[in-house]
Amino acid sequence: MNLKLANLIPAVAVLVTFTATYSAIVQAADTAAGQAAFAICASCHGQQGEGNVALNAPKLAGHESWYLRRQLEAYQAGFRGTASGDTYGMQMRPMAMTVSTPEALENLLAYIDTLPATNSEPTVTGDVAAGQAAYAVCAACHGQNGEGNEPLGGPHLAGLDDWYLVQQINNYQNNLRGYDPKDKFGKQMRPMADTLTSAKAVDDVVAFINTLK
Ligand code: HEC
Ligand code: HEC
Repeated sequence: MNLKLANLIPAVAVLVTFTATYSAIVQAADTAAGQAAFAICASCHGQQGEGNVALNAPKLAGHESWYLRRQLEAYQAGFRGTASGDTYGMQMRPMAMTVSTPEALENLLAYIDTLPATNSEPTVTGDVAAGQAAYAVCAACHGQNGEGNEPLGGPHLAGLDDWYLVQQINNYQNNLRGYDPKDKFGKQMRPMADTLTSAKAVDDVVAFINTLK
């Protein structure tokens, strides 16, 4: 047992470096595979994930990976896209099913993360001042500037398609989203949508969100 510590250190260092490099290679998402898988998504969400109002498919570019992951898992688990009357969610759910492994999901998310985030053209108008007052409630989970709050699970809202925001608020109000007792995050959002007690109140808050960048 004549091994000197000094002789061992380089060997340990090499081993540590090798292990770190190896696991980085193994864990790194395969963006090219994600891009190939995105071809099917692009047919509705656009080549750059910019959204397509004619198909009711929202913008994905710029949305947080943790949020997109949770939505795809929600569709897969049936927390989204199963309620009767949820026409658009039902179109999306089988698409989420095409993402069949955790690796495929990570690859897809890594690719979507490379797509440029752009601000959508406003289509909704309303009373911005009234919307700002109503937004005070929303800010707790979605951020003062609609930038999102990951610890609370609230996605960013600024810069998204305004028609889609209206559609989703209506979905929460109509029990088409956030209805499953196991849907921890959707369940939190559903009563918040009920604080907007008229179609005008929804338009107002979305008109205010349109001013956030
Ligand atoms: C047939 C058209 C279609 C295809 C193809 C499609 N989607 Fe969708 N997707 C939709 C529609 C419509 C919605 C909106 C559902 C709703 O209103 O609740 C949606 C919603 C989503 C959402 C929720 C976004 C949010 O902000 O809550 C995610 C995430 C998503 N799609 C990802 C994907 C991915 C990834 C693919 C490819 C594997 C894909 N979609 C393929 C139509 C499609
Ligand atoms: C208690 C925290 C909380 C408050 C307050 C809150 N939300 Fe949310 N909201 C969430 C969470 C969490 C989600 C994501 C749910 C999920 O993952 O399915 C969400 C999702 C949303 C979505 C869907 C976004 C998308 O891309 O599909 C919209 C729109 C929304 N909230 C609007 C609002 C508005 C408007 C208000 C204020 C009236 C508000 N929220 C208040 C927690 C909150």
